[in-house]
Amino acid sequence: MPRPTTVFTCASCGHEEPKWHGRCPGCGEWNTLAEEARAPAAPARRGGGTAVRAASARPVRLADVQAVKIARLQTAIGELDRVLGGGLVPGSLVLLGGSPGIGKSTLTSMALGNLAGAGRRTLYISGEESAAQIKLRAERLPGAALEVPVLAETDLDTVLATLDAERPEVCVVDSVQTLHAGDLTGAAGSVGQVREVADRITRLAKARDIAVLLVGHVTKEGALAGPRVLEHLVDCVLQFEGERERTYRTLRALKNRFGSTSEAGVFEMRQGGLVEVQDASARFVGEATRAPGSVVLAAMEGSRPLLVEVQALVSPSELVPPRRVANGIDRNRLALVLAVLGRHAGVGVGSADVFVNVAGGVRVDEPGADLAVALAVASAARGVVAGSGERPIACFGEIGLTGELRTVAHPERRLAEAAKFGLTPTVAPTGAGRGAAEAGTLRAALRAALGAAPAARAA
Ligand code: TYD
Ligand code: MG
Repeated sequence: MPRPTTVFTCASCGHEEPKWHGRCPGCGEWNTLAEEARAPAAPARRGGGTAVRAASARPVRLADVQAVKIARLQTAIGELDRVLGGGLVPGSLVLLGGSPGIGKSTLTSMALGNLAGAGRRTLYISGEESAAQIKLRAERLPGAALEVPVLAETDLDTVLATLDAERPEVCVVDSVQTLHAGDLTGAAGSVGQVREVADRITRLAKARDIAVLLVGHVTKEGALAGPRVLEHLVDCVLQFEGERERTYRTLRALKNRFGSTSEAGVFEMRQGGLVEVQDASARFVGEATRAPGSVVLAAMEGSRPLLVEVQALVSPSELVPPRRVANGIDRNRLALVLAVLGRHAGVGVGSADVFVNVAGGVRVDEPGADLAVALAVASAARGVVAGSGERPIACFGEIGLTGELRTVAHPERRLAEAAKFGLTPTVAPTGAGRGAAEAGTLRAALRAALGAAPAARAA
């Protein structure tokens, strides 16, 4: 058998080179070439490249394709099963991404424990922790977490051989960045290694019908390290998010071949592992403050409405440029909202530091958050409490560059959720429906939430 050859592929443009270069000759990026193993190409036959070599296969009309409905593997963690689209599909490959310490090992240990408790064959492969460390964690967890067989191993060949021998129905690989393919030279975690590890595990898992949960670390920038290359390979990409020091975490599907990507689950990290939070809105509204700089956002977490508190602090700055700190929302979105506030709504914060925070460590990644950010900042800048009465004010809506307020998805569900907690009227874009204080522009929304603006511009 001819030996596999190696090539060096650019992670940025896909250019291939037979030798390693510091700088990609294709796109000019530095340090992007990573080594990969390649099966040798079959020798070309004489007679030209267009000769047909294999026998033809018969295409089947879609209506005639036999599709059996496969029973899913329930992890018995309701929020996880829901985000997966109703449980794990046997033989599927799921990538679970998240920053270190967020709770990926805890979540996967709990899921395997439940499956083992339900009589499923499971296997937990860890290249990060020793068996003793994994046991220490499992002792804290509910259910049958201690029943799960573990393998602490970083060598890919040993892992594959063990998978082949054990034939679990569900297996966790924690993490894809710690396994090492001996026939590639790159360090574990490099693009080439990660791709090779995932590729070979996938092939075995599909052949043996093993559902695999691949854990992957996310870099500071938010990209799965190495791993944009993995997204096309796996069936499902889940992202576990939140602030490590805070208790709340959200689980989202970024890609799902077997379900919707609009589902999200909310968890709380406790002493005994992760606990599903079903009444998240009640908690966040209960914890919301009645002070300048605080409003409640009627957000959508997938198909579920969720009320979260958005807080802002505006304070005079010595710095040029002043600070813009965003926790739980996109920084660029904050910049846009601040620009529109200054230009179209008379709330200039040009020379002040601005901090915006979504309480509880939740991340909201939707345009509907714009209005909450704007109202929180304006309320903080003016020192005026938003809304009147005992309860905090709720709002949602996207802000356009010309200062208009734009409709977002599911206004009726957001309004209903806010009404459930007595947060009426909710400031929302025109046409939102019953229970809304409708506003067509950001200026009108500010008037509805904060009352008449002071005559002079602040900055
Ligand atoms: P872990 O699952 O190890 O995170 P990851 O695999 O994503 O790096 O857990 C992260 C943190 O959770 C860790 O600092 C300890 C904490 N934790 C709890 O608070 N309660 C628990 O029951 C467990 C198991 C962990
Ligand atoms: Mg871990």
